[in-house]
Amino acid sequence: MVELEKNKNISVHMDTLEQHPHCSHGPTILFSRGLDGKKFYSCAAYRDKKKCSFFLWENQSGEKYVQQFERDPIISKMIRFKLQSRLKFVKSLNQENRIYCHKCNELLPKSEKHLHLEHEDFLQENIDDFKLSRPSQLLRPFQESKRESQYFFTDSTINAFLNMFKSLNIKYVVCIGAPTIHEQIVCKVPVLKSILLDIDHRYLQFYQCNDFRWFNLFNCYILEECDTKEILVDLLSKEDSMAVLIDPPFGGRLEPIAYTMKKFDDIRLKHNKNFLTKFLILPYFMERYVKSCLPEMSMLDYKVDYSNHKKFNDTGRNKGSPIRLFTNANQSKIPLPSDENYHFCEECNRWVSGENNHCYQCGGCMSKNGRKYIHCNLCKKCVKCTWKHCKKCKKCCLPDHRCINDQIKTSSKNKRQGQNKKYKSSINLKSTMIKKNIYNEEIKRF
Ligand SMILES: C[S@@+](CC[C@H](N)C(=O)[O-])C[C@H]1O[C@@H](n2cnc3c(N)ncnc32)[C@H](O)[C@@H]1O
Ligand SMILES: [Zn+2]
Ligand SMILES: [Zn+2]
Ligand SMILES: [Zn+2]
Ligand SMILES: [Zn+2]
Ligand SMILES: [Zn+2]
Ligand SMILES: [Zn+2]
Repeated sequence: MVELEKNKNISVHMDTLEQHPHCSHGPTILFSRGLDGKKFYSCAAYRDKKKCSFFLWENQSGEKYVQQFERDPIISKMIRFKLQSRLKFVKSLNQENRIYCHKCNELLPKSEKHLHLEHEDFLQENIDDFKLSRPSQLLRPFQESKRESQYFFTDSTINAFLNMFKSLNIKYVVCIGAPTIHEQIVCKVPVLKSILLDIDHRYLQFYQCNDFRWFNLFNCYILEECDTKEILVDLLSKEDSMAVLIDPPFGGRLEPIAYTMKKFDDIRLKHNKNFLTKFLILPYFMERYVKSCLPEMSMLDYKVDYSNHKKFNDTGRNKGSPIRLFTNANQSKIPLPSDENYHFCEECNRWVSGENNHCYQCGGCMSKNGRKYIHCNLCKKCVKCTWKHCKKCKKCCLPDHRCINDQIKTSSKNKRQGQNKKYKSSINLKSTMIKKNIYNEEIKRF
């Protein structure tokens, strides 16, 4: 989506974020759009007006405007305390006496069912211990929402992540937008500690402060009544060997994620802790944006699978999921599952997928999209195996492409017809549209 937004020329300005006006989701982000580059503040978490309608031109800022916007209920220490005692109480009941109301997003004892009589269709009864300890399985995913697209990892992907933490000797994992990893660590991996940071406030009622914080990744802000900095310092200076794993919602910009990572790094540095091992999950074709915003990160060949997403897994597409893991860790220290056909390439000193063969001419395992690449001696580089070298275009292209020469011919024919100017712009427009469509197609294919 970064690309789509770049096409619309939207820029993000994060330098003075701490002074920006706040919406219910913390400091807003300063954006600028179009040729005049007029700047405006908008919500850091939601682009959808229904979710957050905050909008303010830069020169409009001031209390008067800011106060027009309603705040979500503030989660104070008192509320957290009440939620915790409620959880304790519900846990102490038999599963037949536990209910979850999906309308009120509330865990409740059966004795309070009469208070939700109008929500009959939303009541889920018989909440067992498994669901209580894995709220992601209980809560209804917000799939319809653009931002909180809650697609969950498959068990094999969760295991692969846990093995990576083990190989890197990680002791503490900060899971941002990754509830299933947090749940697995809490329930099954006693040697690891973990905290979940997520914008989904429903998790508040299942966890204590040490296990969950209501957090906005795109402005590094804790949405509870607390001092964000104090809490982050406390969290990030706990452990020497710490990792952060981020599964951001699709469509999120990278600049704000880089902003949050820089804040984390600064805290670690100030408190003399080792550098933070980072894992960021994004589609493979976002690689160049990741490199420009977070240059320390490189792309692992591991395909991240989601269980409730039609195309982000190995069944949906013949080349497997297009989602990858980016990391600042040394790739040679991250073994990928050999039972899923990953192997170690001695030349590259990293693990790669089964179909990624080493190319001695290019000096690397060059496949990015999960399919075989073949070396083209004329292009002097590896290309997708579905491409063929076209003599006319002098490069490898899809077999059914329209040759550049043919396009030029059409254009000169029209030139002769005296429509030169008009056509030139239409060709430019067309090629931009083709590029855009390719990108849209990429997105749609998910
Ligand atoms: C694609 S889902 C990831 C779920 C993950 N694959 C798992 O299995 O645990 C994205 C997650 O990011 C969270 N999220 C969305 N926007 C966020 C934000 N601005 N700050 C923090 N978390 C956010 C959502 O609530 C959701 O849990
Ligand atoms: Zn907002
Ligand atoms: Zn209810
Ligand atoms: Zn190689
Ligand atoms: Zn090659
Ligand atoms: Zn070629
Ligand atoms: Zn051609």
